[in-house]
Amino acid sequence: MSRLKKKAVTASAPAKVILFGEHFVVYGQPAIVLAIDKRASTTVQLRKDDRISINSVNLRVAGTFKGDKFQATKGGSKARLRLEPIRLAVQQVLEKAERKAGVNVSIRSSIPVAAGLGSSAAVVASTIAAAGHLLGVELPRDEIFRMTYKSERLVHGTPSGIDPAISTYGGALQFQRGRDFIDLKVETNIPLVIGNTKVERSTGELVARVRQMKANFSAVTDLIFIAGARTALLAVEALRNENLQTVGELMNINHALLSAVGVSHESLERLIYAARNSGAYGAKLTGGGGGGCMIALTEEKKLKQVMVAIVRAGGIAFEARKTDEGVRIEH
Ligand code: MEV
Repeated sequence: MSRLKKKAVTASAPAKVILFGEHFVVYGQPAIVLAIDKRASTTVQLRKDDRISINSVNLRVAGTFKGDKFQATKGGSKARLRLEPIRLAVQQVLEKAERKAGVNVSIRSSIPVAAGLGSSAAVVASTIAAAGHLLGVELPRDEIFRMTYKSERLVHGTPSGIDPAISTYGGALQFQRGRDFIDLKVETNIPLVIGNTKVERSTGELVARVRQMKANFSAVTDLIFIAGARTALLAVEALRNENLQTVGELMNINHALLSAVGVSHESLERLIYAARNSGAYGAKLTGGGGGGCMIALTEEKKLKQVMVAIVRAGGIAFEARKTDEGVRIEH
């Protein structure tokens, strides 16, 4: 059967945690990011007309684009803004395929949204891969990354590209804007607990907050960015030496630097201190901050006690495992 005759295609892409360097990465500093075992999954189907209809169960929004017109069927006035990156994802593939087809897009994801775990990039990368397969377009990973990055620009104007990169390639990457990614080939187990504060926030607003801080106090923030870069590079070395105690201490330093540029939140501080006090090697916010998620690095045998401490402090806690599987076609 030719691929064009396929009725429905499903693809998935992983969430991520940034171990080191969020925000500073926007200004060209190195960061370390891991793909984790939570995935967004997108199913696409051809339609008989030329509309793009999208239903996102997790975002609780749905609607149909007909040219530039949009009709929300769920989620009211928020729907269009939230669905635009997904529409742009599909449109890029249609352009590449030189087709004027209509597509139904259905998204399901186990990644908490607006929480710093890269849900939007994972959704877009999986949409692009699924649409490419459905329309019979060959999309190498570099192309999926480039298209995902373009859609992410609608989420916030100056993305570093770290989220599209990890959702596309998976694994553990040292990422720096404008340079090739370095696959860190981390073999050692990295026992991580994620604590979700349940405070939803917008990455774009937090990136803008740091930009404002830099505009007001660049003599200070420039030094903080350099300290962030050194911290990340020491962490690369510690990971290579499998010295998790040092990685944890460096995470604590990284968190202090992120607090200094204004992206922590009291809900994060509560969970981070709970994790540290219950025996974690280190803990920090992950992603945009301002709420969302924190991560704690711990010995395997302390995973449960760290999770219990995070829950007692008011968070939702779960274990995260690194995955090497980037974006992939499911069926
Ligand atoms: C968001 O996951 C990470 C940030 O550094 C923004 C970006 O790099 O695009 C906050």
